[in-house]
Amino acid sequence: MQKAIIYLRQALAKKHGVTPEHIMLGNGSNELIELLVHAFVRPGDEAVVPHPSFVVYPMSVQASGGIRVVVMLKDHRLDLEGMARAITPLTKLVFIANPNNPTATMVTADEVERFMARIPERTIVVFDEAYIEFAQGPDFPDSLAYMKQGRKVAVLRTFSKAASLAGLRAGYGVADPDAIALLNRIRPPFNVNSLAQAAALAALDDESHVLECVRLIDAGRHFLYDEFKALGIKYVPSRANFILVDVGRSATEIYQKLLREGVIVRPMTSFGMETALRITIGTPQENRRLVAALRAVLGKTSA
Ligand SMILES: Cc1ncc(COP(=O)(O)O)c(C=O)c1O
Repeated sequence: MQKAIIYLRQALAKKHGVTPEHIMLGNGSNELIELLVHAFVRPGDEAVVPHPSFVVYPMSVQASGGIRVVVMLKDHRLDLEGMARAITPLTKLVFIANPNNPTATMVTADEVERFMARIPERTIVVFDEAYIEFAQGPDFPDSLAYMKQGRKVAVLRTFSKAASLAGLRAGYGVADPDAIALLNRIRPPFNVNSLAQAAALAALDDESHVLECVRLIDAGRHFLYDEFKALGIKYVPSRANFILVDVGRSATEIYQKLLREGVIVRPMTSFGMETALRITIGTPQENRRLVAALRAVLGKTSA
């Protein structure tokens, strides 16, 4: 098991042009979010979190006795200006989910550059890039470059999404060795099991699987856009493997009806979006099944 950890950290270090001391493995990137908060947020400290976004950020901050400084999204996108303005001398962490869950929107390299110019040296910026493979392009920020320039930045990645290994629970963080050493002191000693390590190592070598997954999601995204347009459903253009849609009526009701058709989507009511659903892009067959079920529950006739 020790060997697999060493090989995995070495392979990740090589991939990102850093040393193994810059890499920390987690039981999913979820655990790394919790460890970062646990290590750096004391009672009374602040952490700036976007909303709606990944719920684990505010939950972890609250569990550590920290103060969640919530900055609402603007037009479904992270409001980086608002987040920069929300920083005070008490701010220890800022969470940037890029792409964001549940909106599937991303912030660009230019926007992040302006944001980083306004962030004080003492504040750690956490770039949570769980969905990066689906968003890659010339406009996607190189967040690791900030870390390499000596800025206080932690970059989180995962094998759960494009590598399709969510159940195995393997994620990693890249940060400066001092931060990683601190995190290592508080991490449970056996946080990533040996099967997950072996699978993650194999996944790193299997770029074609990731490319195929990204291609499938791209095709599915465009198929679903066309179908949503035909059904009169508004959607937020996505840079991830899910799409946020507005069904124009109770999302909970549509969710329950879809469930009876054997299709699981996520109502966004807990985020205060009463008519929104987050729909995961699936295989062509799953996408067709979703569209047929949606058409049926919305009472639309097929075209
Ligand atoms: C934005 C974001 N970050 C992190 C995670 C955690 O993923 P994992 O713990 O499987 O790596 C998720 C999972 O849904 C997510 O949406």
